[in-house]
Amino acid sequence: MQTVLTFRDLKKSGEKIVMLTAYDYSSARLAQEGEVDLILVGDSLGMVVLGYETTLNVTMTDMLHHTAATRRGAPNTFIVADMPYMSYHIDLAETKRNAGRLITEAGANAVKLEGGSTSRLDAVKAIVDCEIPVCAHLGLTPQSVHKFGGYKIQGKKEEDFDAIIRQGEAIEAAGAFMLVIEGVPERLGRLISEAISIPTIGIGAGRYTDGQVLVYHDMLGLSTQTFKFVKIYAETGNTTSNAISSFRKDVKNGNFPSVEHVYYKEK
Ligand code: KIV
Repeated sequence: MQTVLTFRDLKKSGEKIVMLTAYDYSSARLAQEGEVDLILVGDSLGMVVLGYETTLNVTMTDMLHHTAATRRGAPNTFIVADMPYMSYHIDLAETKRNAGRLITEAGANAVKLEGGSTSRLDAVKAIVDCEIPVCAHLGLTPQSVHKFGGYKIQGKKEEDFDAIIRQGEAIEAAGAFMLVIEGVPERLGRLISEAISIPTIGIGAGRYTDGQVLVYHDMLGLSTQTFKFVKIYAETGNTTSNAISSFRKDVKNGNFPSVEHVYYKEK
């Protein structure tokens, strides 16, 4: 099983880190079989699994349920569980309790939270003080969708670069072991990865972050939306939908079950 030291060493050696989201037993089993370096149980599950428009409706109950299922499917892979919206915003006692539940009740190895404001840095410190590794998340943080006025690239202007790099440095100083950086210009992804010594994992942040993360449903062609930064590695959505149509046709016209699929036929 990987540890926080594995990822630190991977950054040092220059070997890219592979993170994939998974949300349940079967996606986690396949992610582990595919030998990803770590799994993220992202709150993107709100959109790709539960059908919400944003990640804001995801609850602690959802995250505990899906993280526990993911752990059952990937018993030997390092798992980061997202802290859902409002689970780390109210006070530090609640923040620590919620982070702890993802570890003790659901089996995560680490938690992830979004943002780099002073109160987010306090949250990172408080959770790390409970001996729980924290992955931070900067740039286009999806839980800020209403504040940003949509899912918009962050740090587009040169003058915004410094602020985001400083947030990355503060996050490292607060004790985070990893930083996800999403939806920023490639040059900023590179500069922030060079500025800090904890590994950066990019999504829509160009080629030069220390690793890359994709959403399971996006890379497998299962999502309804497509994004320029996603590479679809297999069109399993089309394959699955064709398979379902064939099943329907076979049942309607009596071709399924045929004799070889009869489970028990009396002689
Ligand atoms: O929720 C999620 O899947 C994420 C990744 C997109 C980084 O936060």
